[in-house]
Amino acid sequence: MTSGAELLSEILLDNVKGRHTLIVIGKGGVGKTTFSILAGAVYARKGRTLVASLDPAKHLIEYLGLEKPLKIRRIGENLYAVQYDIAPLAKKLSSEYTITLKQVMPGLTIVNLDEVVKAIRNAPGFEEEIFLRILEELYESDYDYVVIDTPPTGITHRILTLPSLHTFWIEQLYELRTKIISLRYAIARALGREYKPSDPVLRKLEELHEKYKNLAENLRNHDRTSVAIVATPEPLPVYEAKTTLELLDRLGMRCRVLVINRILSREEASSSILEIQEKSIREAKQLGGESCRKIGIKQHSKTPRSLEEALELLNLTVELDKL
Ligand SMILES: Nc1ncnc2c1ncn2[C@@H]1O[C@H](COP(=O)(O)OP(=O)(O)OP(=O)(O)O)[C@@H](O)[C@H]1O
Ligand SMILES: [Mg+2]
Repeated sequence: MTSGAELLSEILLDNVKGRHTLIVIGKGGVGKTTFSILAGAVYARKGRTLVASLDPAKHLIEYLGLEKPLKIRRIGENLYAVQYDIAPLAKKLSSEYTITLKQVMPGLTIVNLDEVVKAIRNAPGFEEEIFLRILEELYESDYDYVVIDTPPTGITHRILTLPSLHTFWIEQLYELRTKIISLRYAIARALGREYKPSDPVLRKLEELHEKYKNLAENLRNHDRTSVAIVATPEPLPVYEAKTTLELLDRLGMRCRVLVINRILSREEASSSILEIQEKSIREAKQLGGESCRKIGIKQHSKTPRSLEEALELLNLTVELDKL
């Protein structure tokens, strides 16, 4: 093993005892997919590992030569990869909503359900909801390690926030619905009618509450989940890394490693670029506290386009402090 591989292995497996999920976050184009592959290869030395890409740009397919989305492929010993695709999942989810609506609100038949489904599909938050489903599925999978390559930062931030936000809203809705049910009960009794308090809406709310609570707990559980933040040594990507760290703090999530990727050598860059790079690296070193380790990956002379080529980056991986 190269010293870069050893360093990454030490960081990625530090305090990891059971199954673990690593969520890789960063601005577009900084190297999230590349780092996800590297992390996957490191984990695969210890156990069955899945690299799952939720990035709508589907770059993992090209990178690893996967045949098509949604199909898990073995790409190495103990190493598997899958590219998720939103469109077919959106169709499936919206038809599930139609069934749920029919079940919990039979009176809705008077409205055109097709129109309701269309509205749901275009509703803000629908895409994030699909990602949450995938996240849930990944937590339930039986891989020892799962590395998640995420969509652009804004969407990822919303995905991570939603489980606890949903839990809060569902609790409010549950309270409201309970009031409605008890009012119905009181009216029925006053009229001398029989009233069965079993309510499909309450049951659905209970089911959703359980689901989002579990997700929020899994995300917050440091044994179960940690985050790798990737940035290039430039102001905007480092700024996004900072906002991600602030979000993780608010959500009680753990940053395991901050990766500064594509660090240019003195020969490769002009002095003005080197100046920006140095300032960005200085800033990055200050971020995230001690438990968030910082590493640098130097710029490779050729753009990696396959698993093997990506693995060459392990030779260019160093502790950021040693740069
Ligand atoms: N250290 C490096 N040296 C040279 N090329 C690199 C390095 N890291 C990544 N690349 C190349 O940079 C490009 C962007 O990397 P990658 O696709 O991993 O980024 P991304 O953050 O996943 O992008 P997107 O947001 O578009 O999904 C790729 O062509 C990749 O091969
Ligand atoms: Mg990508």
